[in-house]
Amino acid sequence: MMRILRLLVLLLLIASSFAVATPQSSNTTQQPGLFLGTAWYPEQWPESRWDTDLQLMQQAGIRFVRVAEFAWSTMEPQEGQYNFDWLEKAIALAQKHGIYVVLGTPTAAPPAWLTFKYPDTLRTEENGQRAKHGNRQHFDFTSERYRQFCHQIAGEMAKRFGHNPNVIGWQIDNEYATYSYDPETQRQFQEWLKKKYGTLDSLNQHWTTAYWSQTYDKWEEIPIPVGYNNPGLMLEWKRFVSDTYRSYQKNQIDAIRQYADPRQWITHNFMGWFDGFDHYVVSADLDMASWDNYVGTGQLDPAGNGMIHDLTRGFKRKNYWVMETQPGNVNWSGINNVLDKGEVREMAWEDIGHGADAVGYWQWRSALGGQEQYHGTLVGPDGKPMPLYPEVAEVGKEFAKVGDLLRGTSPVAQVAILHSYDSRWAIDWQKHTKEYDQFANFKSYYKPLHELADTIDVVNPKAPLDEYKLIVAPNLNLLPEEEAKHLLAFVQAGGHLVLGPRSGMKDQFNALLPERQPGPLASALGAHVAQYYALDQPVPLTGDFGSGEAKIWAELLQPDAADTKVLEKYGKSNGWLDDQAAIVTHNYGKGTITYVGAWLPDDAMTALAKWMIETSGVKSEFTNVPAGVEVCRRTGQGKDVFIVINHTKQPQQIALPYAMREQLRSTPPLTEIELAGRDVAVLTK
Ligand code: GLA
Repeated sequence: MMRILRLLVLLLLIASSFAVATPQSSNTTQQPGLFLGTAWYPEQWPESRWDTDLQLMQQAGIRFVRVAEFAWSTMEPQEGQYNFDWLEKAIALAQKHGIYVVLGTPTAAPPAWLTFKYPDTLRTEENGQRAKHGNRQHFDFTSERYRQFCHQIAGEMAKRFGHNPNVIGWQIDNEYATYSYDPETQRQFQEWLKKKYGTLDSLNQHWTTAYWSQTYDKWEEIPIPVGYNNPGLMLEWKRFVSDTYRSYQKNQIDAIRQYADPRQWITHNFMGWFDGFDHYVVSADLDMASWDNYVGTGQLDPAGNGMIHDLTRGFKRKNYWVMETQPGNVNWSGINNVLDKGEVREMAWEDIGHGADAVGYWQWRSALGGQEQYHGTLVGPDGKPMPLYPEVAEVGKEFAKVGDLLRGTSPVAQVAILHSYDSRWAIDWQKHTKEYDQFANFKSYYKPLHELADTIDVVNPKAPLDEYKLIVAPNLNLLPEEEAKHLLAFVQAGGHLVLGPRSGMKDQFNALLPERQPGPLASALGAHVAQYYALDQPVPLTGDFGSGEAKIWAELLQPDAADTKVLEKYGKSNGWLDDQAAIVTHNYGKGTITYVGAWLPDDAMTALAKWMIETSGVKSEFTNVPAGVEVCRRTGQGKDVFIVINHTKQPQQIALPYAMREQLRSTPPLTEIELAGRDVAVLTK
């Protein structure tokens, strides 16, 4: 007995000395599995109010605030005079309420003293005019002087808060979006080109500058493209912008990393489908991606939104945060309607289902002044809860309840859809038909595939592909040799690659390949595209995936190998396409390569998705889920957790694949569940 007691005392001593020795790590282990949060601007309110706000947040289950991302003029009211005491107090008070802090660097809104004294830090618009003070994002992303100021303020913040146990992470800047067209940016672009191409001969050749006498004799002659321009120049400008945002961001990451504990992660809040730069490049130096998820006008589009979640998860190929989302309504859309009752909760769970570990509402309380007075909030200008507050509080309770269950889990996919900014830009600059909306094209593949395979990855074509059974490339317009080899290796090893229209048309310089589509994949496909057609009229289609009409785009596929199978054909239309192949497939190595030449109607797309899933051997647990019900799966820690969301307004009966417990309601094992309109279930074995 004594020996047992002594052992117990010893164990207790070890445990307590551990707690004293590592207060930060013990703090970190208490972090919730799922974070609910909000953007909070204490600098806009009297200190005497902060405790009330934090108490209201705590009551709603809020576990993080993002602060300071627009507080430069409060943190550094004059050049070199820093004032962080208020922020330290706010962070400490948040801690008292169990609320963690994400610090934003304030560089999206440089203060007036800075831009007035150093106007060269202001960006130049396309028309050559300097941006004026009074809005945000008025900085010049290439300005060395501006970068020094950014380094300084980020470093000062990290010096002060880099060891603060309640600060868990950093957001650099806010929603990168703007470029600058000043002479210094142009000079840097020319330098960048020189480094990449080495000689002007090489550049002239890759850009075909003999066309329209564009031939460059000096690097200084190369312009920044404005409007439609040489496709090679346009693509390299976007790549330069991507590298420039990466270095703009790295400058601040380095400043923070000099002082901050490694446990503090660094992110940036991206903007979903926005394509102002290559997000794979800009996220390379981040610990984690995050994004700002807004509906704007109308209601949630579950497939479109889910697709962007998966796109964001693909930036780092791991879980991410929804740093901002709309508490009911925004102020910047055509019609700023409030989301339906229950829809904000529905959205929060879709976020989690796709691999977000946090959902943050923008913003906590309406600022009395400033440009966003009409935006949705959780408390009103009077400081009292808005009608949405109880719904968010319910989400808070639910996150607390199942946070531990979801900790360490993430979506694991057998299907990947390839997404490349180079290809998106190339198509958008020369759409060939104004109807060619790439979001819609991408979604036409994503939606039926996600309905059949609960989890889809959206990744860059350079990503490792071995773990997938099926790879779908809806718009791989640029297909550099290296990427083609990477895809062929996947097929050779037994995978199924499905190419969509406009695939394999161009090289890495945005020049047409001197061969027909899909260029380097044509021989493996055993077919090529003889001609593409922008459609002014729908074209009939018939074949394995049913009859219907192709719209917007059709490619005439010409089989070259005896064993190439035609799966779908065009009917009578413009004469050229009559009875020609629209979809072909061919075995290559141990795998299969398929080409879809037309923009398919929904029914054919659903049938195609079913065929792709079946022939690729992709398995999922839920089958026969009612339309409008989404199933998401997170895997890890030896378990699967299913998040099932009824996106319809009507109740739905859902048959479960095996006996499952519903974890939000703590039910016993069930084989069927009924979900009310916009309701959610979290299910495990
Ligand atoms: C963006 C910004 C926020 C705010 C919201 C409003 O996401 O990051 O500062 O302006 O939009 O919707």
